[in-house]
Amino acid sequence: MNDRLTNGSIWKDSSGQPIHAHGGHMIFHDDYYYWYGEDRRDNIYVSCYRSKDLFNWEFRNHILTTSTPATPIRVRTNVKLMSDKGGKVNLERPKVLFNSITKKFVLWVHYENGEHYNDAACAIATSDFPDDHFVYHGSFNPYGYMSRDCTLFQDDDGTAYFISAARDNADLHIYRLQEDYLNVESLVGKLWQGEYREAPAVFKRNGKYYMLSSFCTGWEPNQGKYAMADTMDGPWGMLSDFGDETTYRTQPAFVLKRSEKEYLYFSDRWNGSDYFQSSYVVLPIEFNGDIPVLMHYSSLSLGEDSHLIHFER
Ligand code: DGJ
Repeated sequence: MNDRLTNGSIWKDSSGQPIHAHGGHMIFHDDYYYWYGEDRRDNIYVSCYRSKDLFNWEFRNHILTTSTPATPIRVRTNVKLMSDKGGKVNLERPKVLFNSITKKFVLWVHYENGEHYNDAACAIATSDFPDDHFVYHGSFNPYGYMSRDCTLFQDDDGTAYFISAARDNADLHIYRLQEDYLNVESLVGKLWQGEYREAPAVFKRNGKYYMLSSFCTGWEPNQGKYAMADTMDGPWGMLSDFGDETTYRTQPAFVLKRSEKEYLYFSDRWNGSDYFQSSYVVLPIEFNGDIPVLMHYSSLSLGEDSHLIHFER
């Protein structure tokens, strides 16, 4: 039983193996948190872990690999999961939502073909289960746009949005998804043109929408920013600083809203010279009125009632 996590260290799953879930995402479903993220080992693309308490993570499956079955859907896509030279493609920043109409778990991810970085596409996969039997449906460019760092956001009424970096990362696009989450329905926002935002993460608090993002500096951390809006369609406000000048050496992965009062910033501390030494940093988002504030804490621990998370400096 693990009741303490140290930010910036290699976190282990319940069998003692490092957790491979970078650039990830998390949903809460049937009493479990499911953590999805990049797993760049061997023939793996995306792995899934689950936990009841956010401290003890059970490895569930490699949910996307080079041998995941591929089936076309109505969206015309490229369904190849291997490069033309026989190597791996790149699948980065996987995000998953549960669609309550189709009862499917729907995954969106950034796709590159493994040879260069110019495909700048998104790719989708679905499953009837949160942690197994995903079927790949291929990659495409939404409305023909480039699409790199990305996230998904599900609003209270089930409406979902895909947010991704376009025009060689210069602009950040917000797409509303069709009701089955298998295609974009409209491009509802083109944000911060020429400001080069990456690693978007969206959450909602007291009826307001917040978007965190980083600047575009490869694996090097930079000053995080947030912006606010009254609707996902905008208008979105200007970008303001979030955390310190390196966001405490992190880049956003996602924000987990545990309750109306508890918002957790999950981030990656990348190691650009050895990807597998990259680590995780989880921090509470505190609020000064409506303004989100990110302070540094070196560790987190489970409270006695196993629900409250304590952060230690
Ligand atoms: C920044 C992105 O946010 C990461 O996901 C990763 O793609 C690196 N760039 C690669 O340089």
